[in-house]
Amino acid sequence: MASAALIGYNYIRDMRPIAFGLVLLLICTLTGGGQQPANCWDCHSDIDRAAFESSVHKDLTCTICHSDVQSIPHEQPPARLTAQACVGCHSDQVQQYQQSVHGQACAQGISESACCADCHSAHAIFSKTDPRSSVFVRNLPQTCGRCHENAGLSERFGIAARRYSTYWESYHGLSIKYGNLIAANCSSCHGSHLILAGSDPNSSIHPNNLPQTCGHCHPSASANLLKGKVHVEAKLSVSPGVYAVRVFYIAFLGVFAALFVLHVSLDIIRWLRRRHAQ
Ligand code: HEC
Ligand code: HEC
Ligand code: HEC
Ligand code: HEC
Ligand code: HEC
Ligand code: HEC
Ligand code: HEC
Repeated sequence: MASAALIGYNYIRDMRPIAFGLVLLLICTLTGGGQQPANCWDCHSDIDRAAFESSVHKDLTCTICHSDVQSIPHEQPPARLTAQACVGCHSDQVQQYQQSVHGQACAQGISESACCADCHSAHAIFSKTDPRSSVFVRNLPQTCGRCHENAGLSERFGIAARRYSTYWESYHGLSIKYGNLIAANCSSCHGSHLILAGSDPNSSIHPNNLPQTCGHCHPSASANLLKGKVHVEAKLSVSPGVYAVRVFYIAFLGVFAALFVLHVSLDIIRWLRRRHAQ
């Protein structure tokens, strides 16, 4: 009997550190102190905490994505994340993305291309139907336009520039600007993750696929509707018709303004002469 009691006593004494640990863990859990391992916020105040804590990922610990952060301070600088960090939970999007022009370029380390965080941000990710989201209908042109307006980037990759401004000048852009959110935005025509060059036969904007792409919203689209250009740049080499109209308009306004100035000047001179004569 006595030896059994002694074993029991020793057992409880040996378990003390574990029990202490369990109580500490309970306190940490209750106070929320254990939510992010080795509180990342202590040093990373550069990240917008309010945005992260109201984002779709608010319940994830930092190290689910930043899985290489093992020690504090970081012995090795943590790596930049790739699509691999998202594949566990968003495999469909990652698979499509990896086949796209953006995904292929990113995988080759071309940092000017769009990686997940370039379109979604790293920590301020909201549902696509939330007006705060970078991919919300009205915000998407700005998100894509950050790169596709830019003449330098377009020259380097041999792709058309001014996609942002030409979009807002189009009927779809104007329509969205005035509150009709069902008109087409960049991703309605180009897709979001599987974006391909227009010359690729699998691209949604390849001429063969336009009846289907535009047909989502224009079920009885005529050949004429499909022929119209979406991004109309008023340049001789791109859209001679629009260019001619614009040149005529500018010339007409110029001549009109010159005649007006001439008329007023002559009037003033005549008035001055008359005063002088009196
Ligand atoms: C004691 C302060 C401290 C804590 C705590 C800390 N970090 Fe850091 N972290 C740093 C510093 C300093 C750098 C910059 C290192 C560098 O540039 O080489 C850094 C860099 C990083 C980077 C790379 C930043 C970049 O510019 O690419 C990531 C990602 C990161 N930390 C994640 C975390 C995560 C996740 C946690 C919590 C598990 C955490 N850190 C906790 C100090 C800290
Ligand atoms: C859903 C995945 C995800 C979660 C969760 C996440 N991050 Fe990030 N984080 C990213 C991505 C993507 C980037 C941008 C690519 C890169 O720089 O690695 C990034 C970048 C960073 C950077 C580099 C500086 C910057 O702002 O670009 C730091 C530091 C960082 N994260 C810290 C944290 C901390 C701290 C937490 C937890 C509060 C956290 N991250 C949670 C995905 C995540
Ligand atoms: C070129 C910009 C772009 C890149 C890069 C991008 N996305 Fe998206 N993503 C979008 C757009 C646009 C939408 C919204 C589509 C819509 O409104 O239907 C979206 C929507 C989503 C959604 C919501 C579900 C859905 O498919 O509509 C998830 C999840 C997502 N993206 C994850 C990712 C991940 C993970 C990556 C990186 C592998 C990534 N995205 C890269 C533009 C992008
Ligand atoms: C551990 C799982 C997990 C990881 C890893 C993860 N996410 Fe998410 N993500 C979620 C959950 C859960 C939601 C919210 C529910 C939903 O809409 O699927 C979400 C939602 C999103 C949405 C909004 C979807 C919408 O409805 O518009 C985007 C965009 C997104 N995640 C992008 C990313 C990106 C980019 C990465 C990698 C840097 C990533 N996620 C990594 C779990 C994860
Ligand atoms: C961070 C910059 C960036 C963002 C954001 C971005 N792109 Fe791109 N995009 C590029 C670069 C760089 C290329 C060229 C890649 C290559 O050719 O290797 C490209 C290529 C393309 C192409 C193919 C052009 C061609 O002829 O090869 C299309 C179409 C495209 N992007 C549409 C979009 C749309 C739509 C969005 C928004 C949903 C978007 N991009 C967001 C940088 C970006
Ligand atoms: C109504 C459909 C539609 C919308 C909306 C749209 N595009 Fe386009 N886009 C096209 C078509 C069709 C082409 C190819 C012919 C042309 O240039 O008009 C194209 C061409 C492009 C190209 C050059 C691709 C190549 O392979 O040459 C880029 C880059 C691009 N668009 C980006 C964007 C961006 C960014 C937005 C949003 C700001 C956008 N597009 C909105 C239909 C659309
Ligand atoms: C997401 C749906 C959607 C897609 C995809 C779409 N459109 Fe539209 N489009 C609209 C809506 C909605 C309007 C009416 C806008 C208004 O009048 O306010 C419109 C208007 C137009 C107009 C103005 C004349 C008319 O018939 O109302 C033309 C031309 C047009 N679209 C061409 C195209 C072409 C070409 C494509 C494919 C490259 C395309 N659209 C793809 C939704 C779409």
